[in-house]
Amino acid sequence: MIKRNPILLLLILLLNLIFYVNVNTATTQSYIPRKIDFDRSGIPKNILLGSYVGGRSHVKPMLDVAAILIERGYNVTLLSAGRYEPSSEYPGLNQITLKPPLRIKDLKNVNIHEDSGFRGLSQVTEMSINDYGKTYEKYKKVAIEYNIDLFFCDVLVNDACMDIANNLKKPVIAWSSSLQFMDPVPYKNDPMFGCNISLENESFFERFRCALIQPLQIAYTMAPLARQLNDARKQIDIKPVSGKMPKVSLALVDTFFGFELPQHLAPNVQEIGPVLSKEYPPLTPELSNFMNAHERVLYVAFGTRFFTTTENNNKILQSLVEAINKKIIDGVVWPLVETSRDNFYPTLNLTDGTQVQTLPILNNEHPHIHIANFAPQFAVLNHTNTKLFFSHGGAGSVHESLYTGTPMLILPFGADQIGNSHKLKSIGVALTLNKLTLDVNDILNKISKLLEDEKIKKNLKRMEVLAKINSKRKYRAADLIEYILQNSGLEEYVNDDFLKEWEPASSRMGFIKANNLDVYGALLGVVLTLFGGIAFKLFKLISNSSSIKIKSKKA
Ligand SMILES: *[C@@H]1O[C@H](CO)[C@@H](O)[C@H](O)[C@H]1NC(C)=O
Ligand SMILES: *[C@@H]1O[C@H](CO)[C@@H](O)[C@H](O)[C@H]1NC(C)=O
Ligand SMILES: *[C@@H]1O[C@H](CO)[C@@H](O)[C@H](O)[C@H]1NC(C)=O
Ligand SMILES: *[C@@H]1O[C@H](CO)[C@@H](O)[C@H](O)[C@H]1NC(C)=O
Ligand SMILES: *[C@@H]1O[C@H](CO)[C@@H](O)[C@H](O)[C@H]1NC(C)=O
Repeated sequence: MIKRNPILLLLILLLNLIFYVNVNTATTQSYIPRKIDFDRSGIPKNILLGSYVGGRSHVKPMLDVAAILIERGYNVTLLSAGRYEPSSEYPGLNQITLKPPLRIKDLKNVNIHEDSGFRGLSQVTEMSINDYGKTYEKYKKVAIEYNIDLFFCDVLVNDACMDIANNLKKPVIAWSSSLQFMDPVPYKNDPMFGCNISLENESFFERFRCALIQPLQIAYTMAPLARQLNDARKQIDIKPVSGKMPKVSLALVDTFFGFELPQHLAPNVQEIGPVLSKEYPPLTPELSNFMNAHERVLYVAFGTRFFTTTENNNKILQSLVEAINKKIIDGVVWPLVETSRDNFYPTLNLTDGTQVQTLPILNNEHPHIHIANFAPQFAVLNHTNTKLFFSHGGAGSVHESLYTGTPMLILPFGADQIGNSHKLKSIGVALTLNKLTLDVNDILNKISKLLEDEKIKKNLKRMEVLAKINSKRKYRAADLIEYILQNSGLEEYVNDDFLKEWEPASSRMGFIKANNLDVYGALLGVVLTLFGGIAFKLFKLISNSSSIKIKSKKA
């Protein structure tokens, strides 16, 4: 039985009384709302958003952050390859074309059907260096014409954007969806560079290869390009800023923990993804009818930039037809970019020996396959009947799929897609395919597994929550840009003191001091001296006593 302490009881009574009085007074007074906004009147207004490669996948998430800034009264000018369409998605955005849209077909020395990743990257890099002077001048012209106060640069082969900012002494916000580009750590890597996404469980020799041999090989390939870039800079008389270029004020990374493998980040590298639009276009009536009439829809889309071989296209279409025949799924939605439409053989030879004509399917005559020119992807993914996404694994598509809790079958073509596919597989929400060894039965088995596996469903729930709560961080991205903009006119920026509140002392102390290596070195010295001294004394003692013994024996 619990003994009741009368003093304790009294105390509780007293506390209750105080609390009651407190609550009572609180309800009679009306509370004052806390003001969270700051004074924007003195903040410079003009932002340039620059992307060399352009295209929806690179520009859209940046524009979603810019849209918040436009709403807050800033002027945003987009300078990129091609034009962002439809421009009505971002009212108030000023668009200027940097150059014609960049297409993969324009990369002459790359076979995109065989290479994946690095070779393509070095090709695009070379193209951007050949264009460097023209690109820089265009940035400069726009920067001066629109009186730009801050540069918001997509990092991919966009040196001109960061260089012009540095030379005009304006802050630069760098943007990427890849942490591997922004803040590489020794325990992670990327298939783009020929190594596993995580080196945690790799053998010593594999880590040796990935830590030393691969970087050397990459440096060897990239060194001539780096030289070429510096020559291009010299030609138009661009000076490096404080010894190294480019200097970035803040790096924003459109990714999120859960999807991205955990790692340490520098303070001025901030994860702010997944960035998604506030609004998305609805299903067309036609598509809506199709989706509502089918209960297990597979959505196929490989982005707007990438495509595969005719052979692979046929294997994919054959898998879709067979998956429907076997009742694994009952509907397919596949937006086909124009170039891909011609990439089919006239007939498909199914595994069971029957033949199917492709033309009627492409003309939308198949009752269970909906081919469209364009599909409002988010609306399709968010439809309850969409059970699986057959994707190329581009960052934007992955974010939308995780946000809507849709499992993925991934056929990566290159760039960051292979790494993305491995990450998604390792968190148990996707299965992957290889474009070089595509096989119809393998596709069918993987579709079945993705639709049935309970563990995948649980993992998707978890990722959906993470994607949803993190999708609010685009407002933080906008806040941070505003903060930097607010200080951009200050003299300190010129003196390299800019953002000192963000820079850990370690970056100024140097590697040895920052890690207290000198202290440990001194300790090691002391310990060694001490042990050395003791050892020496002992040695002397032993040799003395033995010589005494010898002497005594002699005597
Ligand atoms: C924004 O840009 C427009 C036209 O480009 C200009 O008329 C307007 O003055 C600018 N606003 C600010 C605040 O600079
Ligand atoms: C990468 O490492 C993981 C964990 O050790 C392993 O399961 C996976 O098969 C590896 N992936 C590749 C492509 O080697
Ligand atoms: C490496 O192996 C350990 C132990 O099996 C496991 O917990 C960890 O998740 C693995 N790491 C990766 C990246 O697969
Ligand atoms: C299917 O078989 C026919 C011959 O029976 C052949 O002409 C055609 O190219 C085959 N189609 C594919 C996609 O292999
Ligand atoms: C997605 O669809 C569900 C209904 O299936 C709806 O309740 C929800 O609002 C949609 N999500 C978004 C972000 O529009």
